[in-house]
Amino acid sequence: MLNPIKIGLLGLGTVGGGVVNVLQRNAREISRRAGRDIQVTHASVRDLNKSRLCNTEDIVLTEQPMSLVNNPEIDVVVELIGGTTRARDLVLKAIANGKHVVTANKALIALHGNEIFDEAQKQGVIVAFEAAVAGGIPIIKTIREGLSGNEIEWLAGIINGTTNFILTEMREKGRAFDDVLIEAQELGYAESDPTFDIEGVDAAHKLTILAAIAFGVPLNFEATYTEGITRIEPIDVEYAEQFGYRIKHLGFARRTAQGVEMRVHPALVPEGRLLANVDGVMNAVLVYGDAVGPTLHYGAGAGSEPTASAVVADLVDVVRSLTVDPENRVPHLAFQPDTITKNQRFLGIEDIQSAYYLRMEADDLPGVLAHVASILSESGISIEAVSQKEPRTGETQVNIVLLTHRVQEKLLNEAIVRIEALPDIRGEIMRIRLESLSQ
Ligand code: NAP
Ligand code: HSE
Repeated sequence: MLNPIKIGLLGLGTVGGGVVNVLQRNAREISRRAGRDIQVTHASVRDLNKSRLCNTEDIVLTEQPMSLVNNPEIDVVVELIGGTTRARDLVLKAIANGKHVVTANKALIALHGNEIFDEAQKQGVIVAFEAAVAGGIPIIKTIREGLSGNEIEWLAGIINGTTNFILTEMREKGRAFDDVLIEAQELGYAESDPTFDIEGVDAAHKLTILAAIAFGVPLNFEATYTEGITRIEPIDVEYAEQFGYRIKHLGFARRTAQGVEMRVHPALVPEGRLLANVDGVMNAVLVYGDAVGPTLHYGAGAGSEPTASAVVADLVDVVRSLTVDPENRVPHLAFQPDTITKNQRFLGIEDIQSAYYLRMEADDLPGVLAHVASILSESGISIEAVSQKEPRTGETQVNIVLLTHRVQEKLLNEAIVRIEALPDIRGEIMRIRLESLSQ
């Protein structure tokens, strides 16, 4: 057997601790697969006195991550710190030093991936990032390799474990948003800044990466429409159920003749769809290829060992590829770099077509519903279902809930402005997109 491959871990928190545990526990199987032992020899942390999830007896710990990146004994650097400033400097330096890199950092890849992969290609090193999307689900490998015979038409997924956990606990147990978020943080699911999870930014990072490898377009985080779950109220979860839908936080990417559409937002999904039944911290990604049709990929989307599973798989891949010429390796973003569509047009949110759930508060007077219906009709928006909820005792306002057929978002926005201006309508209209996921 060849000498062990030496790993320098940057970060020994939830994911870093999991990586050490998996590498230690499954050392024999991993070595049989990789053809060499894989050993974490060094790790960097912020606080040397903190207790760790893993046994660090045989690991040299330091508070100086750059010392690992510059250590000639280390073969592969694994970046598990997070963030985009320090992590970018460390990763670029590791590449410049000729080291292969594995990272779970979706923010880094979504924002700086184009630069990082350019540098990696120049240096002939691998930057692997399976754990950056959907935790333990091997979705990067699946799209990049398993589906490489297909023209991928669209993909949709639940790609943030924290928000799915929150929405599930709210729906199943009626728990309060803030309590569930605290639990998600304690379980190690949430980002260090959890607003990234609940405002959809983390899912947008992941969707940006999925769209790039699915369609052969550059990483373009700015073009991804981002909306989180903080505006969703328990009453919307309840009304959605009455119509036969579940509210999920969805990432959606589609290639059309007009351009590439990338968006993350809450969506009503028909309750019979498999995606509607993906609960808790689980993630799932539905990929539609022209040859294979729909394929669904399901698994834990966050947490210590599920994420470590993906990081370790990348390490095994890196070790197996050490003897392969750089130009014969799987391209970082799935397509050969010189074929990536540089001037790709990306669609704005007003260009997209969707069906919608609308909830509005109205005075309980005759004719209100007719006014709303006539505005929608004048805008060419047809109604699929409507329900008017009786006012609660002592209240004079009713909730009108509507489901529309598919329409361009710009037309819906114009109609909403007109409906909100009606004298009988109170406050803002709640609008949630509705995705049937059938085409
Ligand atoms: P974490 O538990 O907060 O761990 C971060 C580690 O990095 C800690 O060991 C911390 O040191 C160290 N660190 C933080 N800031 C640092 C700095 N400025 N300089 C040096 N070291 C620093 O985070 P995590 O959950 O493991 O996440 C790590 C990465 O994996 C992130 O990019 C995250 O988005 C990604 N990810 C996480 C999950 C998940 O389920 N948690 C899943 C997929 C991807 P101390 O321990 O001493 O504080
Ligand atoms: N905070 C992320 C989530 C971690 O909840 O999905 C996994 O990427």
